[in-house]
Amino acid sequence: MTAPHSPADWTNPLRNPHDTRLPRIAGASGMVIFGVTGDLSRRKLLPAVYDLANRGLLPAGFTLVGFGRREWSKQDFEDHVRAAVLDGARTPWDDNVWERLSAGMHFVTGTFDDDASFDRLADTLAEMDRTRGTGGNWAFYLSVPPGSFADVCAQLDRSGLAAGSDGSWRRVIVEKPFGHDLASARELNRTINSVFPEESVFRIDHYLGKETVQNILALRFANQLFEPFWDARYIDHVQITMAEDIGLGGRAGYYDGIGAARDVIQNHLIQLAALVAMEEPVAFDPAQLRAEKIKVLRAAAPVEPFDETTARGQYGPGWQGSEKVPGLREEEGFDPESTTETFAALTVEIGSRRWAGVPFYLRTGKRLGRRVTEIALVFKMPPHQPFRDEQTAALGPNAVVIRVQPDEGVLMRFGSKVPGSSMEVRDVNMDFSYSENFTSDSPEAYERLILDVLLGEASLFPTNTEVELSWKILDPVLEYWAAHGRPDTYPAGTWGPASAERMLARHGRTWRRP
Ligand code: BG6
Repeated sequence: MTAPHSPADWTNPLRNPHDTRLPRIAGASGMVIFGVTGDLSRRKLLPAVYDLANRGLLPAGFTLVGFGRREWSKQDFEDHVRAAVLDGARTPWDDNVWERLSAGMHFVTGTFDDDASFDRLADTLAEMDRTRGTGGNWAFYLSVPPGSFADVCAQLDRSGLAAGSDGSWRRVIVEKPFGHDLASARELNRTINSVFPEESVFRIDHYLGKETVQNILALRFANQLFEPFWDARYIDHVQITMAEDIGLGGRAGYYDGIGAARDVIQNHLIQLAALVAMEEPVAFDPAQLRAEKIKVLRAAAPVEPFDETTARGQYGPGWQGSEKVPGLREEEGFDPESTTETFAALTVEIGSRRWAGVPFYLRTGKRLGRRVTEIALVFKMPPHQPFRDEQTAALGPNAVVIRVQPDEGVLMRFGSKVPGSSMEVRDVNMDFSYSENFTSDSPEAYERLILDVLLGEASLFPTNTEVELSWKILDPVLEYWAAHGRPDTYPAGTWGPASAERMLARHGRTWRRP
């Protein structure tokens, strides 16, 4: 962590309190984290809670309760949170903020199969309601493997914690994976919904908490510029890429047997596709937004035949920049015979007037050329060119590219005359970058999402129907892959297997090299 700064470095003391654009502040509440010693809590959740407190967005008596097996005192828990905050917080350290926040930290030792543990948790929360003014409003964060969801929900129900009284609320936050396929997702939804009504369930898809992802909606629906060409008349195809340069060392336990398609296409990439493809919501509220996403997901299906329209791969040894890196099968914890894919690509079509005939290509992979997530709408070529072929030899199709991360922004690619006496046209980029246009840093996705849960603002959380529809799109491809041998191999540091290139080349298209 860098040296402490004054809070004035990162908040504006002159802000106008009547400005309706001011951040919304959570009301009286607290949060219980199950799985608080896990990786996600340490890297994301605990730093996000501190950052929210530091930005002044949590209520004065905000209370954070950890639940786990360890025999921890309050002090042990505070030390754990403090270490996570020092490692991962985005805002500077502030002794006063820490003092206020840590005063409201408690740890309950227990296991998910033990009634007495949850009775103790219930007593702790009741005491917090009395002493810290949390008002009976509690969010339960299930940062635990899905196999434990049913036990935790049942215990919350049994101990009377799942439902608030006297107007107080109880909400549950669920982390992916939301099942393994459609059938298991339905089962999981049934389990959760048997205890918590759907409006109290907040499923985290952290991509929806990213500024640039929310900006898809602003770009499309706050402007006049883009919507007129946002359809099959002008767009040839859409490419959605989520490329990572990291490998899977240390994550075998979670990843082996899951693979790239289940890990990120089922959730992040299909959500991005839905935001790009959906119709304008009647109003900007959770019900309308979700209704439009659901409509477009219902109309979406994977394109067959899958041997031509999909690709999957597993990274082999290779070079990531100047570093020599091992292949998946050499990574610790992976079965050398594992058929888990680390690269997945598929083609989705959307049966609507707007998108008929426009393929949506979705791809993701580990150990690819570089870390980048982007959405590219690639245009058809103009129906007529008044220029000779050699004059436009360096002209590709126009494109609008939403750069989700890094270098967040929007880029438009079009042809321009090359200066000089001859007529030669070639591609140029017009580039909007967040960092050059806005001085404030984007909050971390988890900050935004945790705050939204405390506020009961559900727009950025997928519903059970969205989750099930996403599996419906993916399941046929997964079944096909399961029945058709091993994934191809690609060298680490490249852009995936040759089959991914063939997928597009078949139609005279190429993947962008972002
Ligand atoms: C997670 C996946 O949902 O997203 C990880 O489980 C992946 O495998 C991560 O690395 C990437 O998130 P981000 O925000 O770094 O793009």
